[in-house]
Amino acid sequence: MMLKGIPLLIAAAAFLAGACLGSGRASAVEIAVSCGSMGQELELCRQGAEAWAKQTGNSVRLVPTPESATERLAYYQQLLAGQAPDIDVYLLDVVWPGILASHFVDLKPYSKGQEKEHFPAIVDNNTVDGKLIAMPFFTDAGLLYYRRDLLEKYGLGVPETWEDMTNAAKKIQAAERQAGHDRMWGFVFQGRAYEGLTANALEWVDSFGGGTIVDAEGNVTVDNPQAAAALKLAQSWIKDIAPEGVLNYSEEEARGVFQAGDAVFMRNWPYAWALTNGGDSPVRGKVGVAALPRGGDKGKHTGVLGGWNLAVSRYSRHPEIAASLVMYLTGSAEQKRRAIVGAFNPTMPALYQDADVLKANPFLKSLYSTFTDAVARPSRVTGEQYNRVSYAFWDAVHGVLAGQAEPEQALSSLERDLKRLGRRGW
Ligand code: GLC
Repeated sequence: MMLKGIPLLIAAAAFLAGACLGSGRASAVEIAVSCGSMGQELELCRQGAEAWAKQTGNSVRLVPTPESATERLAYYQQLLAGQAPDIDVYLLDVVWPGILASHFVDLKPYSKGQEKEHFPAIVDNNTVDGKLIAMPFFTDAGLLYYRRDLLEKYGLGVPETWEDMTNAAKKIQAAERQAGHDRMWGFVFQGRAYEGLTANALEWVDSFGGGTIVDAEGNVTVDNPQAAAALKLAQSWIKDIAPEGVLNYSEEEARGVFQAGDAVFMRNWPYAWALTNGGDSPVRGKVGVAALPRGGDKGKHTGVLGGWNLAVSRYSRHPEIAASLVMYLTGSAEQKRRAIVGAFNPTMPALYQDADVLKANPFLKSLYSTFTDAVARPSRVTGEQYNRVSYAFWDAVHGVLAGQAEPEQALSSLERDLKRLGRRGW
């Protein structure tokens, strides 16, 4: 009897222990994290968040958000204005700290100095009034994707200037169409009226020496002849080397056309590398990546700085646990995995020396300075007003691309509007 009872006792003890553990779990919480949805973004974020959940005994809920940065900002602003606790961890664009900072907790008490492993410029960008309001997650810079096989076929080099790109695109598009590829286009980019167009157009303007819309001192500088020359060239692309539909393209539409094999050149961010070279991509192995062209012989190669950061909402019911998820997702192991699988650029200099990361993304080495010297949009200096500045800029540029306005006229009325916006200082 006694002997038989022992296993029973053990079983009972084990059951009780299990129940205790279970109740331990009951105090575990669910953290809602908002991830991006460009290409593989959502899936990679899910995998990372679930790995953290497994490790810590908590659970995660992924909140899908609009793909467009502009629409995502509007969605966030609505939630945050209502102090909604629905999302614990937010994904913040590098241009948003000045707009949204007040809604996020200072991560310094949780980071244990982990921010020191990241590029100081990004940490600096995410530090508002002495508070670290977001941890760097991945960085971005605009790149030129090209069809290596087609440049070789027509004996052309990688274009150095935008004018070279225009000519190469025209030549290859015409020859390929003649050979029966009716849908071939020379160049696709992000021409829709949203934040992505601000990034593209700033690259054109700055590469021609036309500045960054508003300079570091807060002066509006956009109405200048170099900026007009850049926009004039871009205007000439529409319906000539770029489909009219490009006026409604964001990143994924441009990638769709390029990846289908229907464009010679594409402007996009690094994430497109992993996908255009992915197992099922029709152009796999035929793609090259370079710095974006210069604006004329005196111009420079400008890639605009992009990137995303993770922040914990002030309205979260579990800020400490949410911060633990942020530290996990932005940590070295997870950044390495995301770089290898998804070509999401790490925000840690050390990972640019990592053999596995470089093997998956050789351009990280050859284009290192494109990333470290990427040109910032004027979000720091214009702070809370940045989205209005950007809206005015992309709207003016979109009008030019659509043929509704000439560059000079569009830029001078833009300059007037921006000066009015910043008249009391930014
Ligand atoms: C990319 C960049 C981001 C930018 C957006 C525009 O996601 O990382 O900074 O605002 O594209 O579409």
